[in-house]
Amino acid sequence: MAGKTANTPRRPVFGRVYPAMARALDRAGMSARRRELLAGLSGHVLEVGAGDGATFACYPPGVERVLAIEPEPRLRALAAAAAAAARRGRHGRGGVRAGAVLSARAGHGAG
Ligand SMILES: C[S@@+](CC[C@H](N)C(=O)[O-])C[C@H]1O[C@@H](n2cnc3c(N)ncnc32)[C@H](O)[C@@H]1O
Repeated sequence: MAGKTANTPRRPVFGRVYPAMARALDRAGMSARRRELLAGLSGHVLEVGAGDGATFACYPPGVERVLAIEPEPRLRALAAAAAAAARRGRHGRGGVRAGAVLSARAGHGAG
């Protein structure tokens, strides 16, 4: 398939469906649950499987840096945007102060 190599894991259906599903779950209470789960964290965090970056706005103020890994390209792009928004402090509470969203595999970083 054009543009697809062994190093570019794509799950395009999941990548398109997951953000809407995550927003619906957040509205149903997942967002509060995320904050509850992350409340005790501080320092540097490695988030494996960041999806569209829904957790970035939920990190408590003690979290100084988040390094996030997301292999699905569409979700990774959304996560990069979410990280930038969280860095700009658009989310009132918590949010990452600095971060990077990287592919799970070398050579596919997305800033
Ligand atoms: C259920 S989503 C959770 C997303 C996010 N952490 C959240 O709470 O909304 C799991 C994510 O893990 C990613 N993933 C799957 N296999 C992975 C792997 N081997 N390494 C890193 N991430 C992976 C998927 O692409 C997906 O975006």
